Amino acid sequence: IGRRFICSMATEPLPKQVDETNMDAPKEIFLKDYKEPDYFFEKVDLNFQLGEETTLVFSKIFVSPRVEGCLAPLVLDGVDLKLISLKVNGKEVKGDDFHVDSRHLTLSSLPSGKFTLEIVTEICPQKNTSLEGLYKSSGNFCTQCEAEGFRKIIFYQDRPDIMAKYTCRIEGDKSLYPVLLSNGNLIEEGELEESKQYAESLTQNLDPCTRSHAMYSLKAAMKWDEDVFGLEYDLDLFNVVAVPDFNMGAMENKSLNIFNSKLVLASPETATDADYAAILGVIGHEFFHNWTGNRVTCRDWFQLSLKEGLTVFRDQEFSSDMGSRPVKRIGDVSTLRSYQFPQDAGPMAHPVRPHSYIKMDNFYTVTVYEKGAEVVRMYKTLLGASGFRKGMDLYFKRHDGQAVTCEDFFAAMRDANGADFSNFMLWYSQAGTPRLNVVSNYNAVAKTYSLKFSQEVPPTPGQPIKEPMFIPVALGLLGSDGKDMPLSSVYHDGKLESISNNGQPAQTTVLRVTKKEEEFVFNDIPERPVPSILRGYTAPVRLDSDLTDADLHFLLANDSDEFNRWEAGQVLARKLMLNLVSDYQQNKPLVLNQQFINGVKSILCDSSLDKEFIAKAITLPGEGEIMDMMEVADPDAVHAVRSFIRKQLAAELKNELHNTVKNNRTSEKYEFDHQNLLRRALKNTALGYLGSLEDAEMRELALHEYKTATNLTEQFAALVALDQIPGKVRDEVLADFYNKLQHEYLVINKWFALQAMSNVPGNVENVRKLLDHPAFDMRNPNKVYSLIGGFRGSLVNFHAKDGSGYKFLGELVVQLDKINPQVASRMVSAFSRWKRYDEMRQNLAKAQLEMILAANGLSENVFEIASKSLA
Ligand code: ARG
Ligand code: ZN
Repeated sequence: IGRRFICSMATEPLPKQVDETNMDAPKEIFLKDYKEPDYFFEKVDLNFQLGEETTLVFSKIFVSPRVEGCLAPLVLDGVDLKLISLKVNGKEVKGDDFHVDSRHLTLSSLPSGKFTLEIVTEICPQKNTSLEGLYKSSGNFCTQCEAEGFRKIIFYQDRPDIMAKYTCRIEGDKSLYPVLLSNGNLIEEGELEESKQYAESLTQNLDPCTRSHAMYSLKAAMKWDEDVFGLEYDLDLFNVVAVPDFNMGAMENKSLNIFNSKLVLASPETATDADYAAILGVIGHEFFHNWTGNRVTCRDWFQLSLKEGLTVFRDQEFSSDMGSRPVKRIGDVSTLRSYQFPQDAGPMAHPVRPHSYIKMDNFYTVTVYEKGAEVVRMYKTLLGASGFRKGMDLYFKRHDGQAVTCEDFFAAMRDANGADFSNFMLWYSQAGTPRLNVVSNYNAVAKTYSLKFSQEVPPTPGQPIKEPMFIPVALGLLGSDGKDMPLSSVYHDGKLESISNNGQPAQTTVLRVTKKEEEFVFNDIPERPVPSILRGYTAPVRLDSDLTDADLHFLLANDSDEFNRWEAGQVLARKLMLNLVSDYQQNKPLVLNQQFINGVKSILCDSSLDKEFIAKAITLPGEGEIMDMMEVADPDAVHAVRSFIRKQLAAELKNELHNTVKNNRTSEKYEFDHQNLLRRALKNTALGYLGSLEDAEMRELALHEYKTATNLTEQFAALVALDQIPGKVRDEVLADFYNKLQHEYLVINKWFALQAMSNVPGNVENVRKLLDHPAFDMRNPNKVYSLIGGFRGSLVNFHAKDGSGYKFLGELVVQLDKINPQVASRMVSAFSRWKRYDEMRQNLAKAQLEMILAANGLSENVFEIASKSLA
């Protein structure tokens, strides 16, 4: 049994990485304080000697001062490291010339020119439960360095503008660590002297079937980036690694992408269509980072959206091209509304490019990622596909191999197109979701149609007053025949602007709304049109308009823009839900209006529509979306109303829904192909409605679907349908599912989440019991996200009036923080919108935040979220 080693060379710097609890007071870091480093690192040679107790890391760094003769000390980051030796230019550094504290190694009296720094550190990956730096997961060593984790591996200037080239050598006992992988191209590999130890191999071979979808996704992503952006992969090898213990989704390490295993492994029996789609998107996302993230990287972490917003945009476009564009857009906008809007309206609101942070990990947010992607999408909306491509080409031409800022991206887009972007950069600096209001007026005599826009950006922490934003609004006008009217010119800002698509009148035009108040007047409009505003959702704003219910029904039936067709239905549903919520609060009986039922019925039965679109269109806006629109969020009322509408629709449309289930069963074997996917989406949505009925026949139906399912997508959907009504059937089917699938840990996580989210009153006790379930493990983030994260999604139980839900989460956050601060921090954020609720709930949630803040040895991660939430 020899020791194996490999050496590799990353042709690009390693992506930077994460970090730590500390006795010192948490320190806030500001964008405005950015300074170039005093010392650059040109090259770094790393050597890892992996061991079962400790690991030794040898680093040799080639340092060059930015300015010759620099006298400044060199401050290296380092957390949880044991310094074994330290040499400058080959000579041991004397005690007076360096200083180590819990976060830094500071060197003084350095040579005036270039020098080498050799440092040996000892670390204990086996004891590292934070899952950042080097840690051991299910028998495998794994690193996670973004954002600030590299400092848990060696002493280093752990910041993204240190653009060193690396070589990396890894040595380990072959019997224990048969596969060694590093970044970049392989230089050499081989065997060393005989080793004394012996142990069983821990590496499991994956069933080739479980990785075939990831491989398909990777190939598709490579081809797509070549076709759409002309970007090719640049190394001789590319590895995709699945690890079961991972804080986030995945990581784009150059040539060595690392994934949370739930985002790689999939078979029809263990993954749903949603999982297959997520894998496609995330495999694409990490691959796309090779250009947008690795070859061009961020100057500092405030610029995170430079790579994340852009790469999310790229993966969204990739998924759209691989499937259905409108349906993908609907899903992405729903996510934005359900998660990003609330964040943007709460105490953690921050701009796409934050101004400050305590822990960077807390800023891997829906704002930086999803709103950031919307910002990139706006460039494309304004410039068109070919203008956007020109901008991207220039961005790579200028910045390949550099660490840059959001201004650089903006400048490339502007310069490549000679475009006037006025105040567009405000999207990076102003937090808060703009409110855009539209008032319309038709002048039958002059045959003109006017739209008056006004906008308001709400105050957010640290930003009481805002300037108006640059909002691109795609717009079409529908005639009474339901068709788009040709648009030839618009009067705006004292000028008549012609609107045309290569000489032809346009059907959709993009208005550039840039002022607080602004009017656009269309000419030659023969009759009062119905406007389709913000087609495809061209800007991340909350839109209000004077459209009547009749207009909305008209759009729902006729709009050529599928997104806005769906949106019209959602606007109607949101109005209806808010009205019923207020009835509920006033103890009035709930009655569902017949026009709404008819609307849902006509969509459900419209065979000309895409089935997945139907599934989306008959799905009500989420509970969170409705709560977000209320003055005082009322979880009981929102939950009661949404359940009431679902049940009413199910009862009224029972036959139609039943037929939908029967007509959309899968006969052949599972395929993740478009046709089958659509069918399953529609069938499962229909079954979900029917499961809400206390109706023996429908329970039989769901049970039948459960038993005969040939794939997890349909099996799990049937389980979800049956989960809605407490009782013997539910208990039995949950137990059966566990018995059959207990060996599939990713599937069991879904089983945990389903039970945790249950709105059966008093379920907190059941969730407490599940913490002791043999399959649960607090050290595994996926399990925590399923069980504890899932619980936060239960309106009834998380927000229980007796405070039991808040207390449960509060206690767990404190426990979790000792194991994994990043995961604890994500859990504590459920409290951050406590001021949205009634006084009683406010007091209960506040008490938990205070209890958490008083806990001993609290991490900076949790401190930042909890303290900002209370501020
Ligand atoms: N760059 C990764 C991605 O989005 C995310 C890494 C985040 N890690 C963290 N600890 N915050 O693909
Ligand atoms: Zn990313």
